[in-house]
Amino acid sequence: MPKSSHVFAAIGVLLSLGNPARAQFNPMEQPRVGGIVGSKHDFSSMAWSGGEICKPCHTPHFAMANLPRLWNHTMSSATYTLHDGSGGQEDFDVGTRMCLSCHDGTVALDSFGGQVGSSFIPARFRLGTDLSDDHPIGAEAQYPPSPQPSWWAGAFRDPSQIPAALPLKEWIDGGGQPRMVVSCLSCHNPHRQSGYPHLLNMRNVASAICLGCHIK
Ligand code: HEC
Ligand code: HEC
Ligand code: HEC
Ligand code: HEC
Repeated sequence: MPKSSHVFAAIGVLLSLGNPARAQFNPMEQPRVGGIVGSKHDFSSMAWSGGEICKPCHTPHFAMANLPRLWNHTMSSATYTLHDGSGGQEDFDVGTRMCLSCHDGTVALDSFGGQVGSSFIPARFRLGTDLSDDHPIGAEAQYPPSPQPSWWAGAFRDPSQIPAALPLKEWIDGGGQPRMVVSCLSCHNPHRQSGYPHLLNMRNVASAICLGCHIK
């Protein structure tokens, strides 16, 4: 960073200290243009990736049938325990299932393009198949649940008020009904948004991500 940027950053910190409003939730904050290169999802330096960035997840040809986004990574067939203790395999939107194809730790990272790999995700990044210690997603995080409970409106923002950076995703329930749910993609972008840590969709300053949905 050039020296002048440090000075501006320092002024910014001073201004935000002097003005508490600056630290509050800013619903207008939008994700910036991404940059996967150099992020935790830039696998090109890892031995198992064959030097590729996109290929563990996407392929231009011979992508997996029945999945969107030219998907190339072998999907997991695990059964999960959700946050509330219930469980299922089909309880998530397809984006979340794509994330779990590496992050549940049951399918090797290098199982893509039809090959069967042998390198697994490091423990720190492995959510496992027991998601009871993770934020609710999918079937148990319908937004809003149907029928909508009486306490909902005072506890959660109206979907139209959720920042565009925190998208709800569509999940088809057992009865074939489309429902909007919280997904991994509601909070994360697999292609890093420059400057936001943990591949997050927006900065979580003063818990802005949490306050994007929860009225607290
Ligand atoms: C770790 C897995 C992963 C890697 C690596 C990855 N992607 Fe993706 N990508 C995804 C997932 C998951 C989605 C689905 C996101 C959604 O539906 O909103 C996606 C969606 C996309 C889309 C469509 C939606 C959008 O965001 O524009 C494009 C285009 C895309 N990826 C291109 C790329 C390219 C090019 C690379 C390599 C430079 C790459 N991706 C690397 C996981 C990955
Ligand atoms: C091809 C396998 C693969 C897929 C698919 C994948 N990831 Fe990852 N992800 C990884 C690996 C491997 C790491 C850890 C890299 C390392 O060890 O440095 C990681 C790291 C992360 C991190 C930590 C980033 C940080 O800076 O701390 C987050 C968050 C993450 N992934 C979220 C997601 C989400 C959300 C999805 C789905 C949209 C997804 N991942 C899909 C393999 C994958
Ligand atoms: C409600 C928002 C939200 C949802 C939904 C969510 N995450 Fe996260 N995730 C976060 C936040 C915030 C962090 C950063 C936590 C921190 O700063 O300690 C994080 C961190 C992570 C990390 C990094 C852990 C580390 O030690 O660096 C991984 C990996 C990850 N998430 C994967 C996922 C996957 C996969 C899903 C879907 C199954 C998911 N997340 C769903 C908000 C969310
Ligand atoms: C995209 C919307 C969304 C975002 C963003 C979000 N949540 Fe949630 N949260 C939900 C929904 C939906 C539920 C499940 C409500 C229900 O019980 O039906 C939930 C449930 C919870 C619960 C209750 C879990 C339990 O055991 O009952 C906690 C605590 C929580 N969220 C904390 C957080 C935190 C902390 C963040 C920020 C890292 C966050 N949420 C971000 C939508 C969101």
